[in-house]
Amino acid sequence: MSLESVKTELEKDIKNVHSIQELNELKNKYLSKKGLISELNSEIKTLKNEKRKEFGQKLNELRSKLNTFYEERKNDYEEEELNKKLANEAIDITLPATKIISGAPNILEKLIEEVEEVFLSMGYDVVDGPEIELDKYNFEMLNIPKGHPARDAQDTFYVEGEELLLRSQTSPVQVRTMLKGEGKTPIRVICPGKTYRRDEDDATHSHQFMQIEGLLVDKDISLSDLKGTIDLIAKKLYGENTESRFRPSYYQFTEPSVEVDISCFNCEGKGCNICKNTGWITVAGAGMVHPDVLRMSGYDPKEWSGFAFGFGAERLAMLKYYINDIRAFYNTDLRESKVFDRKESE
Ligand code: DAH
Repeated sequence: MSLESVKTELEKDIKNVHSIQELNELKNKYLSKKGLISELNSEIKTLKNEKRKEFGQKLNELRSKLNTFYEERKNDYEEEELNKKLANEAIDITLPATKIISGAPNILEKLIEEVEEVFLSMGYDVVDGPEIELDKYNFEMLNIPKGHPARDAQDTFYVEGEELLLRSQTSPVQVRTMLKGEGKTPIRVICPGKTYRRDEDDATHSHQFMQIEGLLVDKDISLSDLKGTIDLIAKKLYGENTESRFRPSYYQFTEPSVEVDISCFNCEGKGCNICKNTGWITVAGAGMVHPDVLRMSGYDPKEWSGFAFGFGAERLAMLKYYINDIRAFYNTDLRESKVFDRKESE
């Protein structure tokens, strides 16, 4: 092919380049080893001297025209490519956002935290105890020896023989805490935790439920200290107008023992279905720690006295959130928590 026709063809080809591939093909067609310009180049040596220079110059012009075109277009295409990519990846902030499903705190957990906060503010510690417990701590050291009829009321899951069980109450933590205090240090603890009883599950019973145990041991503690403490927690949980009252009761580990009622925050005493028209709701068992219990755990009852209480955590939460089925706490339906989360923030 003559130089002139290569030139004409190049000019025509240049007009037909529309993409980076076509651009590379063009470069190959003319500049690769067997390309049209390279072929013309190998003709140089066959030319006579005076023609060589002119031919060489023209060929160079052709080559640099192609090279310049190549470089320019390459930049254009690269920029175009980049812009396309940027446009594709751009975030349209006017689009509606994807909904992120958020969780909500477990209501029982939330209630327990609320109770913890009130007691922490009064200088109590939050302590823990094992769920698999010794019979000794769950019963014996709480004044409930083997064969005592009071054991029947807490139909217990035994894990191994007669000594190891799933705790039927959080009260064994009282024993453990006193043993640690070695009869010397005052005690102020609460212990929220799981407990187990062989109950048939229904709207008000669960074979696993939670209690919040409390224990205070110090010098000169009286029932009125217990009353003040219970009053405070009732008001904090259910509102300033809530009152508490004690009814005589019986527990082996307290003397005297009481049943704790709070005034119905729903009807304020007028009577409704929450308080079964009595105006009062039972929320805990409590009392003054029995001298024998103090003694068995190393505290001299002549020197020390104390009070203890045990709240049913689900019961507190059911009242607070108007839940009428205890099983609501133990199914895995997240919508339940959500409903209460919303109620709270409304
Ligand atoms: N442990 C008792 C129960 O499960 C509740 C209780 C009553 C706890 C009186 C106490 C207490 O600490 O003093 O029924």
